[in-house]
Amino acid sequence: MSELASRRILLGVTGGVAAYKAAELLRLFVKAGADVQVVMTDAATRFVTPVTLQALAGRPVHTDMWDPGIANNMAHIELSRDRELIVVAPATADFMAKLAHGLADDLLSTLCLARECPLAVAPAMNRQMWDNAATRRNAGLLRSDGVAVIGPAAGDQACGETGMGRMVEPGDVYAEVVALLAPKTLAGRRVLVTAGPTFEPIDAVRGITNLSSGKMGYAVAQAAAEAGADVTLVSGPTSLVTPARVARIDVTTAREMRDAVMARAGGADVFVAVAAVADYHVLDAKDHKMKKQPGVAPSLKLAENPDILAEVAALPRAPFCVGFAAETENLREYAQAKRTKKKIPLLAANLAREAFGADDNALTLFDDHGEHVLPRAPKIRLARALVGHVARMLASR
Ligand code: CTP
Repeated sequence: MSELASRRILLGVTGGVAAYKAAELLRLFVKAGADVQVVMTDAATRFVTPVTLQALAGRPVHTDMWDPGIANNMAHIELSRDRELIVVAPATADFMAKLAHGLADDLLSTLCLARECPLAVAPAMNRQMWDNAATRRNAGLLRSDGVAVIGPAAGDQACGETGMGRMVEPGDVYAEVVALLAPKTLAGRRVLVTAGPTFEPIDAVRGITNLSSGKMGYAVAQAAAEAGADVTLVSGPTSLVTPARVARIDVTTAREMRDAVMARAGGADVFVAVAAVADYHVLDAKDHKMKKQPGVAPSLKLAENPDILAEVAALPRAPFCVGFAAETENLREYAQAKRTKKKIPLLAANLAREAFGADDNALTLFDDHGEHVLPRAPKIRLARALVGHVARMLASR
């Protein structure tokens, strides 16, 4: 089931070049099963036609306050009455100014003023308009009124300039909307997550590491943030983008990861150890590049790394600990043994071969009540299911 299935969204489109991105955003909403009502300003119709958005939404697009087709002629109330969220993307500087000051001189601004649901805006404008003191003031006013301001982003602009003011990409607006609509099951909780591999140097250019893309750990951090938690992500080397509203701390070795985690574990309510931590580090690692000596194969002396999860679980006031296990066989048996050995309430296990680097996976959760199978799905969806499971376990403690 998609995260937006049957969610009722009103997509407002205002008049800027980025209006073409609204079509892509709408397509993402519709593909996710959302029920989307589109409302365009008059200026927006100069950039994309209502016909385009109507075809994508599968229902009429409204642009006019005085549309006789709307029941009881109360368009300003009727169209947003059953909506769970209004998202205005793109939102021009002018439209943001209207919202900030409570003006209602067209259908979309009137709907926003008369709404009962949350409102999000994705600003899109020339960099100088965004930098203008009035626009910054208006964005601040909107934020303090509880409006979610998504972006803007920096980059090339339609006017040929480069700077801050581009609309955030449709996929990122979509992700923000998912987060805004997610049940806040971890509100007020502090969640600490480890992700990615660790890298244990042999010399300045070589090292020992584990296969891990970090995708599952980042997905867990994202899902926890969506659920309203205050999330810190301690990450080994990855090439991934930090999820929104997540504080990220970069580390390289297992010992650095342990130090970063132990400094924060006391204040955490939940610790999710997703990192593929190297079990050993190299004693006497060289800080220069070692040269080959023909005919001599060097041997490495290894020392055990700290078991971060076991250390956190052994704290006197340990957070709720969740472990991950990647096994190549005997999943159930090894997973339960690992959970008992590390003394943790919940362990998520998967078959290693199937998960590495992929965008989807299948997980089995093991807790005191037995096992819960999460069938193959994108990692973010599994992460949301895992976060939901953690929230239920926390609530029943
Ligand atoms: N973990 C950790 N610190 C370590 C090693 C593992 O925090 N030094 C965490 C991982 O993040 C994961 C879980 O412990 O949540 C994995 O357990 P572990 O027993 O270390 O897994 P493997 O290394 O795969 O163990 P084994 O080789 O025994 O299968």
